[in-house]
Amino acid sequence: MKIFLDTANIDDIKRFARIGIIDGVTTNPALVAREGRNFREAVEEICEIINGPVSAEVIGTTADVMVDEARKISKIHPNIVVKIPATPAGFEALGIVSKDGIKVNFTIVYTSNQALLAAKLGATYVSPFVGRLDANSTSGSDLIREIVTIYKNFNFQTQVLAASMRNVIYVKEAALAGVHVATIPPDILDQMMHNELTDISLKGFLNEWHKLPPEKRNYFDKD
Ligand code: E4P
Repeated sequence: MKIFLDTANIDDIKRFARIGIIDGVTTNPALVAREGRNFREAVEEICEIINGPVSAEVIGTTADVMVDEARKISKIHPNIVVKIPATPAGFEALGIVSKDGIKVNFTIVYTSNQALLAAKLGATYVSPFVGRLDANSTSGSDLIREIVTIYKNFNFQTQVLAASMRNVIYVKEAALAGVHVATIPPDILDQMMHNELTDISLKGFLNEWHKLPPEKRNYFDKD
C-alpha cells in the first residue's frame, strides 16, 4: 500500500520525505489556503521535494472551467495529478481530460456508484472520504470495502485512494480492505509510528543496561 501525505505544509513534507515513508502528496484548496501561500508556488515546491504523484485540485465548478484548469495544472510538473470533485460537472470534465491523458484523482467521493462511474471514465485514483462519511453516521470503511470489491470484480485499473483519514483506525481498516493508497495527515502518520508500550519497553531495557558496570558496556569499542 502506498502512503501519500495529506498536507501542503512544506516542513512536514520534508520531514516525512527524509524518513522515506511517503510515496506522494495530496492537497486540496483548503489545505493550500491554510498555508497562506500562492497555489502555484506551493505546488511547484512540493513537486521538487517529492518524487511521486502530487495531487492539486481544480477550483472551478463548471465542466468547461474544470477542463481548462486541469489542462493548466497538469502542465505545472510531470508528477501532477489533477483533483476533480465528484459533481456532475466533475464527471463531465473527467471524461474529457482523461482522453487527453491527464491523470485525475477523482475526489470527495461518498458512494460506490460514484467510484464505479469514475473508473469507467478513466480516473487514475478515486478518493472516498472515510472520516467525513463516518462523521455523517455512515461507515466510511464499508464504502472502501465496496469500492475495492467492485474494482476487483471488473478489473478496473483505477486505484482506490482512501482519504479523510482522521484517525489511525481508518488507516488500518483501509489497509485491511486492500486499498492501493491512503493519504494521511502528518499528525496521524506521527501517531502510527508511536506506541507508548514501545517507549515503556525501551525504557526498561535501557534501565537494565545502565546497571552494567561502565567497562562492560563496550558494545562499540571494536569499531
Ligand atoms: C485528500 O485528498 C482530502 O482532501 C483530505 O483527505 C480531506 O480530509 P478531511 O476530510 O479530514 O478534511
